[in-house]
Amino acid sequence: MADPRILVLATGGTIAGQAGDAMRHDYRPGQVGIEYYLDQARALGIAAQFTGRQIANIGSEDIDASIWSRLHSEIDRAMRDDAVDSIIVTHGTDTAEETAFLLDLTLPATKPVVLVGAMRPTDAVGYDGMRNFANAARVAGDGDAAGRGVLVVMGDRVHSARDVRKAKTRATEAFRGFPRESVAIVTPSRLDWFGAPWRTEDAARLKFLPLPEVPILAIYAGMSAAAAARQLAHKPQGIVVSGLGEGNMPEPVRLLLLEHARRGALVVRASRTDEGLVDRLPTDDADGFVAARALGVPKARVLTALLIANGITDPAEAQRYFDER
Ligand code: SIN
Repeated sequence: MADPRILVLATGGTIAGQAGDAMRHDYRPGQVGIEYYLDQARALGIAAQFTGRQIANIGSEDIDASIWSRLHSEIDRAMRDDAVDSIIVTHGTDTAEETAFLLDLTLPATKPVVLVGAMRPTDAVGYDGMRNFANAARVAGDGDAAGRGVLVVMGDRVHSARDVRKAKTRATEAFRGFPRESVAIVTPSRLDWFGAPWRTEDAARLKFLPLPEVPILAIYAGMSAAAAARQLAHKPQGIVVSGLGEGNMPEPVRLLLLEHARRGALVVRASRTDEGLVDRLPTDDADGFVAARALGVPKARVLTALLIANGITDPAEAQRYFDER
């Protein structure tokens, strides 16, 4: 069988970072260019034909709408290019879950798209980037990887974009999935999927469009309605509540959010806890609130903004997108 033709889109992050000294803790993300991976991949003998483009070279805290737009259009074009079998995106880990989920929602699932990062910079003792990259190439080149949406490869695990989140600040096994912990286990030489592809539809779920600003309202014990109101004074089109436990908030804050829902804002209750479902409450129908279900706060924010951009502001219709798997 011919080697898979993989397009690599590099955006920076720790996988492209440098400390200048193998023993240092601090370092700068986004220092080496795409040639670095391609040279290393060739030196390792990874069985794939790589081409690549540098989209950005930044820490992923600086990922913005223009980089998302460029990534989306490059991948969309590659999906329709017969000379490309699959796509790898190298990315900082801090916001990998947001980029992965945005792309997952707005691209067809016809070819594998794999995001990969690292927790240690290129010149650190125990750089994990090339192993993760070799794993990502193993996934991207697999005939069974399409139909699973955008995937994130970190620490010998393959996560789906919808489930994945960064759960640790330092460990090389920094990513976790919820409710599915992972969808496959991978090494550079072996890949084991847990189950069949689930994305049967060809089309993207939502259109990629400019996103409105959607603030996250972080709830804490004793929060007053006045404190919440100050953050929402600009009347945003959508609000994601980083709520207590199962998306709860003090009653005065709930009453304030009710006013925002009544003026047409999409109000989504998510949870500030590490993981768990936020199910609909009996009061959500009357309040016009949406429950984030299994989506954590950053991804609930991405979906809320994308729904508004696509003109979906009815809470019942929006809820269906949060319920989806
Ligand atoms: C970043 O997200 O760019 C820095 C952290 C990392 O990649 O691990």
